[in-house]
Amino acid sequence: MSWRKSRLLETKLIPDSLWDAENSILLLPPPLVKAYVTLINRHDLQELAVSRDSKNPPTGGLTQEKTDEHFAQAFDGSVARAQLALLDPKCDAILSSNAYIQSLAGNKLSLTDAPCGAGAAAFSFLANIAELRARGVLPRQPLDVCLIGAELSEPARVYAQLLLNKLCVELETQAIFVEAEFISWDVTESLSNTDLITRMTLASGTHPQRLLIIANFNGFLEKEKKRSEAEPQFNELFRHASGKNSVALWIEPDMNRATSNGGLFHWLRNKIANTKWGKFIKELSDNIEPVLTSSAEFQLPLALDETATVRLAVMPLSLERTE
Ligand SMILES: C[S@@+](CC[C@H](N)C(=O)[O-])C[C@H]1O[C@@H](n2cnc3c(N)ncnc32)[C@H](O)[C@@H]1O
Repeated sequence: MSWRKSRLLETKLIPDSLWDAENSILLLPPPLVKAYVTLINRHDLQELAVSRDSKNPPTGGLTQEKTDEHFAQAFDGSVARAQLALLDPKCDAILSSNAYIQSLAGNKLSLTDAPCGAGAAAFSFLANIAELRARGVLPRQPLDVCLIGAELSEPARVYAQLLLNKLCVELETQAIFVEAEFISWDVTESLSNTDLITRMTLASGTHPQRLLIIANFNGFLEKEKKRSEAEPQFNELFRHASGKNSVALWIEPDMNRATSNGGLFHWLRNKIANTKWGKFIKELSDNIEPVLTSSAEFQLPLALDETATVRLAVMPLSLERTE
C-alpha cells in the first residue's frame, strides 16, 4: 500500500448529505440513521437515549443493560468518529482517510471490526461509502465485503446483526455486497483470539484487501486496566493480520487515556516500534505524527435539531511487512 500525503477523497467532493460545510456539521449517513432510529424505537430505548451524561459516557459491557446503555447513548458518537476519520472534512487526518479509501481497491475487502459492539465503526464506513457512491463521488462497481465483527457481548452482536439486516438493502442498491459474521471474541483469551485469526485468514483468501478497525477500546484497556491481559492477543492479531494490502486503523476519542504519555497510543507505539510488521505513518511520511486528531459537531440522529461534539484520535498503521 502506498501512503500518500495527497488526499484520495477530496474535501470539495464530500456531499452535503454527509457534511454541512457552511455550519461545519457532520450528518450521519441517512440509511444508517434510519436503521438505528428504528431499532431504538423498537427496543423502547428512547428515554435511555436522551438521558446521556457526557462526562461519564458508557463503555458497553456483557449484559443487556450495559449494551442497551451503550447502544442508546454512544452508538451515534462512534459512527460520527469513524465518519470523521474517513471523510476528514477539515484535513486533519488525511492518512486515515486515505487508508479507508485505499482499502476499496480491487473491490474485495476483508473488514474486521474488533470489538465491534453494535457495529458502529464498520457500518459507518460502509454506509458512508454507499452515500458517496449514491452521490456519484465514488464509482459504483460491485464491492464484495467479508465483514467479521468480533465482540464479547452477545446482545451487542444481536444489535449488529439487526442493523445490518436493515442496512444491507441500501448497501446493495449501491452494489456493496456484505457477507457478515458476528463472532464471540474475548481479547483476554488466547483461544478465542485464535478463532478470530482463523476467520480473518480464511476471509483474506477470497478478499485480499484487509482493513482491521479497532474502535473505542480505551475504557476496557485503560480504565479497567486490562491492557497487559490483552497484549499477547493483540500481538498475535496484528502479526497474523500483517502482510500485503493490510492496514489497521485504531480509533479512539481524543482524550488523555488514549493520547497522553503513558496512554493507549503511547503503549501501542512502543509495542509496534520493534516489530517487522507494523509501520507508523510518521516513518513513512515525514513530519506527520502517528496519532492524528480532529473534532467536529455532528447532528444527533434522535434529535435532528441538536448537535454534539465528536473528538477523534486515530492511529493508522500499515501492516505490510518490512522484511
Ligand atoms: C466502548 S465499546 C466500543 C464498541 C464499538 N467499537 C464502538 O465503537 O461502538 C467497547 C466494547 O468492548 C467490548 N468488550 C468488553 N470486554 C471485552 C473483551 N474482553 N473482549 C472483547 N470485547 C470486549 C464491550 O462489550 C463493548 O462492546
